Amino acid sequence: MRIGVLCSGGDAPGMNAALRSIVRTAVVAGIEVYGVRHGYEGLLNEEFYLDAAGLPAMGLRSVSGLSRLGGTILHSSRCKRFETPEGIQLAVEILKKHKIDALIPIGGNGTLAGAMALSKVWDGQIIGLPGTIDNDLRGTNVTIGFATAVDTAVDAVDKLRDTAGSHDLMFFVEVMGRHCGDIAIETAIASGAELVFIPEIDEPVDKVVKRLHKIKASGKTSVMAIVAEGDGSGGAFPLQQKLKEAGNPFESRCVVLGHVQRGGSPVAPDRILATGLGNYAVSMLIQDETGKMAGFIKGEPVLTPFEECIAEHQQADAVRLRLLRVLGA
Ligand code: F6P
Repeated sequence: MRIGVLCSGGDAPGMNAALRSIVRTAVVAGIEVYGVRHGYEGLLNEEFYLDAAGLPAMGLRSVSGLSRLGGTILHSSRCKRFETPEGIQLAVEILKKHKIDALIPIGGNGTLAGAMALSKVWDGQIIGLPGTIDNDLRGTNVTIGFATAVDTAVDAVDKLRDTAGSHDLMFFVEVMGRHCGDIAIETAIASGAELVFIPEIDEPVDKVVKRLHKIKASGKTSVMAIVAEGDGSGGAFPLQQKLKEAGNPFESRCVVLGHVQRGGSPVAPDRILATGLGNYAVSMLIQDETGKMAGFIKGEPVLTPFEECIAEHQQADAVRLRLLRVLGA
């Protein structure tokens, strides 16, 4: 058996740990692994990882020391061609040409959508891994990279709080999350932020301003608001403007954390998750599974069909939102 592995879409801390686990599990089981560089785009260009001797099969030593590395040594991309039937057909021909029997794509929503389209026309097996900081997939309690992204954001908010406190300021800190507020919610809880703005919930501006007046009246001199980039206002800057016009009693500043959240050495929970999922994906391929994403739900490894994983984004956790409301008062 020969497995191809690729990372696609936005990179996420822990992708390398997943690759290490896939390669080691496969090699020990007598399975060959080809690393595909630059995601689906690289597959269409027949761009394979080559070892020092110029050979495409990844060996035990080719993944040494990878657990702690951020990014992906395979490189990633977003591939428009893979969204077309012609691109998918070309991928089928290339996979056949290189005698690849199974594929493990690691990525988010778009990656799994591509995997689903490919699985409809290719007779090889596909098991996907949830590699995205956004935590916006069903079929797993948490995605690879999410915990590290939250940690990075919390570290930044902690630093900003010092300045907010020193200058009696409100900060709007924009975190990633186009459709899902999970990074914003967890960052807000961990950093003790007063407010959170997420795509799943649209709060009327006048209500927010009322709350800000209440916060000020309660004696608080600084406020942290965590804003998911996909929030209804369009992110931190437009939200700051809207609230200012509606009478925000705090002087404010905006900080957009951006891609800094996708980088860095993965925290231990991401390494452990990625390692467990990489191992599980290979063992599921050995058991002839296909067309599914591997995830962990309540601590148990599970497979979920691609269409279910990407059907709709996870809803914001109401319990955590309530917690934030109480503690940010
Ligand atoms: O999907 C991961 C993600 O980081 C999102 O949170 C963000 O909206 C998007 O990717 C940014 O994509 P790009 O790096 O292509 O600008």
